[in-house]
Amino acid sequence: MTDSSGKVESTGWLPRKKVILTALLLVTVSGVLVLSTYTDLGRVSIATSSGRKWVSKMLASPGQGVVSTQLYPAATEGNCSDINRTVASRVCPVGKPQPSQALPQRSPLGPGQTYASFDNATVIQCSGDSPFVFCGGRPAMRTPAEKVADAARHRPWKIADVRRAKWQAETRFDNCRYSNCVNVGNRPGPDTDVVHVYGVGLNGGFPRPVRHPNQMWLYSVWESPHHTHADFLSNERSPWNSVFNLTMSYRVDSDVFVPYGFLAFEPTPMEKRPNYYEIAKGKTRSVAWFVSNCRTPSKRQDYVRQLKKYIDVDVYGACGTPCAKVNGKCTKELPTTYKFYLSFENSVCTDYISEKLYKIYTPGMHVIPVTRGGTAYARYFPENTFIDAAEFASPRQLADHLKSLGSDLQLYSQMLEVKDQYRWFGGLGSMWCNLCEVLNTKHVGQKTYNMKKWFGDGHCKQPRDIG
Ligand SMILES: *[C@@H]1O[C@H](CO)[C@@H](O)[C@H](O)[C@H]1NC(C)=O
Ligand SMILES: *[C@@H]1O[C@H](CO)[C@@H](O)[C@H](O)[C@H]1NC(C)=O
Ligand SMILES: *[C@@H]1O[C@H](CO)[C@@H](O)[C@H](O)[C@H]1NC(C)=O
Ligand SMILES: *[C@@H]1O[C@H](CO)[C@@H](O)[C@H](O)[C@H]1NC(C)=O
Repeated sequence: MTDSSGKVESTGWLPRKKVILTALLLVTVSGVLVLSTYTDLGRVSIATSSGRKWVSKMLASPGQGVVSTQLYPAATEGNCSDINRTVASRVCPVGKPQPSQALPQRSPLGPGQTYASFDNATVIQCSGDSPFVFCGGRPAMRTPAEKVADAARHRPWKIADVRRAKWQAETRFDNCRYSNCVNVGNRPGPDTDVVHVYGVGLNGGFPRPVRHPNQMWLYSVWESPHHTHADFLSNERSPWNSVFNLTMSYRVDSDVFVPYGFLAFEPTPMEKRPNYYEIAKGKTRSVAWFVSNCRTPSKRQDYVRQLKKYIDVDVYGACGTPCAKVNGKCTKELPTTYKFYLSFENSVCTDYISEKLYKIYTPGMHVIPVTRGGTAYARYFPENTFIDAAEFASPRQLADHLKSLGSDLQLYSQMLEVKDQYRWFGGLGSMWCNLCEVLNTKHVGQKTYNMKKWFGDGHCKQPRDIG
């Protein structure tokens, strides 16, 4: 999960001949990357061995600046009539599509001259479904008739909750898509189907309830292994190591996958979008970081200290300038003043992505997240909406990229516009609903986890990007 070798396809905005030109350029610059080009729905996609990662590199690397000038002007040549209407109709202007006017070649802009980052005929398509991204929008509620059918298919699933975090919402199912689950309290009986045990701080000292046959025991966790404090992480003989049949966590391979958020592709009609170019132009600072934990296993504090040598970074919170909690002035300024926001995780562990990333995918949050964590972000999150620090060998290279992207207002404002078509929804508040849905729809729980292997061994990495 922590490498990005999966083949991902990347949809650029390039017409065919530009792609071939770009491909040739790239082969000469980097010698390796391009595997094929093909046309998809009137647009051109580039498939490479490293998928989307390659595209952001292409936009990125200083030595490849020539490639990004090939890329950008092509982006104005999109044609609404060419693409799949079922996807496009939600974003294409209503009526007969106009061939797009060519925008001026990127800069120089005349005095007072402005334009929207995308013209009306350029269509933003969803980057593709992933465990985190719903291209068709949020899942709909089930109809009352479907709920009746669910209830008829299975007597209510009985869930006992023997250990719950204070912050975890009460175990309730009444507003869920699938609601044929009930909370039977903290004493599992012979007919209890699932026994939930929250995993942070779970050690031999916490007594195991009596186990009834056919009962599934469920482990839940939303901290990285560094902050889980459970003895089975290092000790297979822990009484809790080999008792669980189900997992519920932010890990993509959990039985009940509950990340801190999902993203729905919900494009705003063209005429209702703000002028992203103007928003970009109004920004005066480069990078903001809001942080309360100053010493972390990911050593993000050291990374940022180096980053600051090469680009302006304003640090707010316990490890920087205190952010007035009362009026929230600094968070209010974030989307108007800053170009980039550091969504740096405290740990570099498999799939560990906190709300620091998701919260940027909310309306009005006009800032581009920079990720640093243990996930193959390019594999899961929409291309051209974020920058992943893992694609840069050092803080200095990341800073160089942020500077060049931040000064290319067309390219940068296009990223703002693409990002703004995705919305954060769900998250930890929906965990019980997710559990009930999985119980109804998947055949799970027919195994015993070795928790040390599943959660402990080899899932966190030492950072190697700090000199
Ligand atoms: C258009 O896209 C939708 C959704 O991806 C797909 O189901 C449909 O088959 C496509 N239609 C054509 C003609 O390609
Ligand atoms: C846009 O698509 C239509 C229909 O496929 C085509 O006739 C037109 O020439 C295209 N315009 C451009 C600028 O490619
Ligand atoms: C884009 O569409 C909007 C609303 O339909 C319109 O007001 C505007 O003039 C269009 N811009 C261009 C460049 O065609
Ligand atoms: C769940 O795990 C327990 C403990 O190892 C095991 O005895 C039981 O058979 C497992 N349940 C299923 C359905 O595999």
